[in-house]
Amino acid sequence: MCGIVAGVAERSVAPILVEGLRRLEYRGYDSAGMAVFTGTEIERARVLGKVVGLTEQLEQKPLVGGLGIAHTRWATHGRPSEMNAHPHISGSDIALVHNGIIENHEALRAELLTDGYNFASETDSEVVVHLLAKVYSETKDFVEAFRQVVSRLEGAFALAAIHAEDSTSMMIARNGPPLVLGHGLGENFAASDMYALLPVTNQFTVLEDGDIAHVTRASVTLWDKAGELVERAQVTSTQSNDVADKQGYKHYMLKEIHEQPNAVLQTLEGRLGQVQVLPGSFGPDADSFFGGVENIHIIACGTSSYAGMVSRLWYETLGIPTTVEIASEYRYRQVAMPKNTMIIGISQSGETADTMAALEYAIENGARGVLAICNAPESSITRLAKITLLTRAGREIGVASTKAFTAQLTALALVAGYIAQLRGDDEFAAEMTAALKALPEQIVEALALDKQIDQWAEHILHKDNALFLGRGLHFPISLEGALKLKEISYIHAEAYPAGELKHGPLALVDENMPIVAIAPQDELLEKVLSNLHEVEARGGELFILAGEGVNYEPEQSNLVHIIKMPAVSRLLSPLVYTIPLQLLSYKVALMRGTDVDQPRNLAKSVTVE
Ligand code: G6P
Repeated sequence: MCGIVAGVAERSVAPILVEGLRRLEYRGYDSAGMAVFTGTEIERARVLGKVVGLTEQLEQKPLVGGLGIAHTRWATHGRPSEMNAHPHISGSDIALVHNGIIENHEALRAELLTDGYNFASETDSEVVVHLLAKVYSETKDFVEAFRQVVSRLEGAFALAAIHAEDSTSMMIARNGPPLVLGHGLGENFAASDMYALLPVTNQFTVLEDGDIAHVTRASVTLWDKAGELVERAQVTSTQSNDVADKQGYKHYMLKEIHEQPNAVLQTLEGRLGQVQVLPGSFGPDADSFFGGVENIHIIACGTSSYAGMVSRLWYETLGIPTTVEIASEYRYRQVAMPKNTMIIGISQSGETADTMAALEYAIENGARGVLAICNAPESSITRLAKITLLTRAGREIGVASTKAFTAQLTALALVAGYIAQLRGDDEFAAEMTAALKALPEQIVEALALDKQIDQWAEHILHKDNALFLGRGLHFPISLEGALKLKEISYIHAEAYPAGELKHGPLALVDENMPIVAIAPQDELLEKVLSNLHEVEARGGELFILAGEGVNYEPEQSNLVHIIKMPAVSRLLSPLVYTIPLQLLSYKVALMRGTDVDQPRNLAKSVTVE
């Protein structure tokens, strides 16, 4: 999603803004741009494509000045192009960057066209800069004009704007997408996340929805959504400023896949004792919060929702009625909220707009409170939660989530183990504790299947479609396997519970349809195996991840490929079976030559609806 960096300083801000944009690249984008007040006017550089292209343009023609705004754009209204890239300019003296969607842009555009403003782009964002110019022409006061304009906008936005008549200040606003202020000595910055500004400061103010700020080098004036002057606390970021690097791996995704044993260890650290989940791991209020839980609604999007689907089966084993809800649906439903419902919000980024809105809705709708499972400290979702369990997977750069997913599952398993302890279900708690302890080593063993996965990838490489099958705890893992494959290799892939095969997808099976099946040694094994025979009988090519003791007797050996999985625990087997599926999608994408870390059209942090 779009990223914003802006700064007002004595020194030249362009290098700081470029570094900030580079640090926001992980969010996903298609074009980049910057506008700087260079002494007498605002000058702009924009490119279709990567930040590195912008850097090259700036090397040819530097933009030198102490006031600037910069942006990475993820297209919503108007195709990816240089013309649609931000900053947008009105006349020659106002420049603006926007993250989000202006829902009343059509009405505003019509009004501005009538007033004689010319539009140079197809974006919704451009209406904001022209409206700013229009109101400024009436008020002659940039601060006042900006505040009036924000009050007329509907939708979700983070904004930063500068005016050529004041080289020492900028205006910013937040309503939805994240925006933080970074405070330096005699200089101030704003950005979509703290990480973008860590090279220049670790002192931040997190803007709240409805906030507007007038930012100069030495001061910040902040108004809240009621228009009242407000002071917000400054926080010191505890994030590491390490510039993410690939450490010899070809892609971040591959590095992150291999970091999973450690990500799991980090998530467990200080939380898992010898025989139990450590009391205190979830904070002082956890026992009373968890203690009264009678129902659970898990709310998430994408990969995070699949983590939720696995964990649902653990919570149900504990006797707690649990549903898993796609946030974008939940937020618009008339949800019947049972008594004492704990909401579990799962989000690697902590900023997903739909998840945020669904959690807010659940709170208003009478939920007991939110437990946030999140990989981003200080993110929006953690701020509305009663209890936050940070997954500590470390920064994930690849858009397709891998280590954040296994860390989410680990955190959800810790919660299940702890609730079991509180309820006196010692058997479950002991089994979960033992399973968690054994997990990192089992993931290491699964990673060693790398070479065998290469062979599978060569078979799947030229296919147009793929089916993934699993049952029980492994059905969500098959969904995740299919999602990974489509996200980064662009092969159409779908997942089904194996028992559903006969109710439709079997019609698709022929020699062109690879079927990836998860067949661990569990109580559903015989049923899965008989589903697989049905596939083979129709000429489908099978790729089976088989549990250590599983024997599948192929009818035609050339159509069946089997990888023997390491021994796993009953409860946490899904975390291990997801590893070869991640590797498979990675290898297929690599062979097809796609942009693995930043797949087309996708974003890591989805801050608009
Ligand atoms: C995007 C990301 C996915 C992620 C999903 C939910 O689509 O590319 O990797 O699973 O958003 O994001 P969240 O940050 O809420 O987990």
